[in-house]
Amino acid sequence: MHDTSKLFSARNCTCVFGHGKHRVTALNDLTFDIAEHEIVSLVGGSGCGKSVLAKVMLNLLKPTSGFFLYKGTAITDQRNHWREVQPVFQDPFSCFNQFFTIRSQLKSAFGIMKVKPSTGEIEERVDRALRAVNIVPSEIEGKYPFELSGGQMQRMLLARIFALRPKVLIADEPTSMVDACVRANILDYLMKLKKELGMTIVFITHDIGLAYYVSDRILVMHNGGIVEQGAPDDVALRPKNEHTVRLLEDIPDINREWLEKK
Ligand SMILES: Nc1ncnc2c1ncn2[C@@H]1O[C@H](COP(=O)(O)OP(=O)(O)O)[C@@H](O)[C@H]1O
Ligand SMILES: [Mg+2]
Repeated sequence: MHDTSKLFSARNCTCVFGHGKHRVTALNDLTFDIAEHEIVSLVGGSGCGKSVLAKVMLNLLKPTSGFFLYKGTAITDQRNHWREVQPVFQDPFSCFNQFFTIRSQLKSAFGIMKVKPSTGEIEERVDRALRAVNIVPSEIEGKYPFELSGGQMQRMLLARIFALRPKVLIADEPTSMVDACVRANILDYLMKLKKELGMTIVFITHDIGLAYYVSDRILVMHNGGIVEQGAPDDVALRPKNEHTVRLLEDIPDINREWLEKK
């Protein structure tokens, strides 16, 4: 029987785009598992396949060959899958409609649920979720996305996650468009999601320093493959693969202090 503590299981998962000389192998023979309640970071340079893997996890893309299973079975029902597995992307503005208030969009997000909470409960959960990301609900009352900064909008995306409480969060470079101060907050919210709601989190970043800070386990990707994986202390402090070493050299100075605290 399948071990149900494993939420995601990739077995020789390969994803190819294009043909002939335009052929790109975005994911190359990946085999790994992600257990419930883990924070796993996918780390790698630009173009190594992180976002393609995020899309496979969200069932927006199917592998060309091999298997990608959720709770031991292939993903068939997209809506059911999205009830449990929700994304936070790099550009929060692309995830909100400019013509509706933020609050109305946080409320309508509950439409994905099988059993929709009552109107009163939805209002309450939205308020609680906003406070979880340090926003006083009245601050955004009547506001539209264009009236907020990128950092505030990124927090709105996380508020959506706090409100909906999916089982799994796929966070694809959620901190790459915000300044260092907001970045630290977002990392703290991710850890809070795990601690308070037991959420399983896949955190995607090109910055192995951030991965070191938040994760239980790090998978290092290069050219569509996993080149090294393990506990953050092993991967970041005792790297074995040359690509991991290069990522460690590329950590911006501002994040380096986290590594050096050890
Ligand atoms: N829809 C697509 N069609 C063709 N090639 C794609 C597509 N999506 C991604 N790729 C290619 O797959 C590789 C991995 O991309 P991606 O996962 O976006 O990288 P990153 O690690 O920067 O997120 C890149 O070479 C990219 O150009
Ligand atoms: Mg990407």
